[in-house]
Amino acid sequence: MPLVGIVMGSKSDAKYAEETQKILDELSIDYETNVISAHRKPKETGEYAQSAEERGIEVMIGLAGAAAALPGVLSSWSTIPVIGVPLPGTDLNGVDSLYSIAQMPPGVPVATVAIGTMGARNAAYLAASILSLKHETIKKTYKEFRDNQSAT
Ligand code: RP5
Repeated sequence: MPLVGIVMGSKSDAKYAEETQKILDELSIDYETNVISAHRKPKETGEYAQSAEERGIEVMIGLAGAAAALPGVLSSWSTIPVIGVPLPGTDLNGVDSLYSIAQMPPGVPVATVAIGTMGARNAAYLAASILSLKHETIKKTYKEFRDNQSAT
């Protein structure tokens, strides 16, 4: 059963979502992936976020470029942790989405990671860290990864 809900704002964001998926695969963490635009499909975005927790999702990862409302909207409809990944793609190269995702009003948090590939990867590691609080097997796998990283 998926513990992580990956949502990207457009199919064109897939290459970044794949970076997140790759790390989650390496850490043996189950996830689901959907494409939902917060601006073009606001109703579906709300429905997804509202149903996520009861379907067993414990962390949502929203990847989006440009005005990047997606992670904030996911957070507004749910109380499970939301990680936001700002993506490049416009003339502002992701700074637009970084600001959109990071500058959430207090009370509707989004844990914002770096722009692009680095952020997409760290979103998976941060999800692993959050899930480690409850899931011993994930904690063990994630800790092994961190120990190996320190040893090389
Ligand atoms: C794409 O449109 C971006 O990469 C982004 O994820 C998506 C955002 O769509 P809206 O939610 O603004 O419609 O160009």
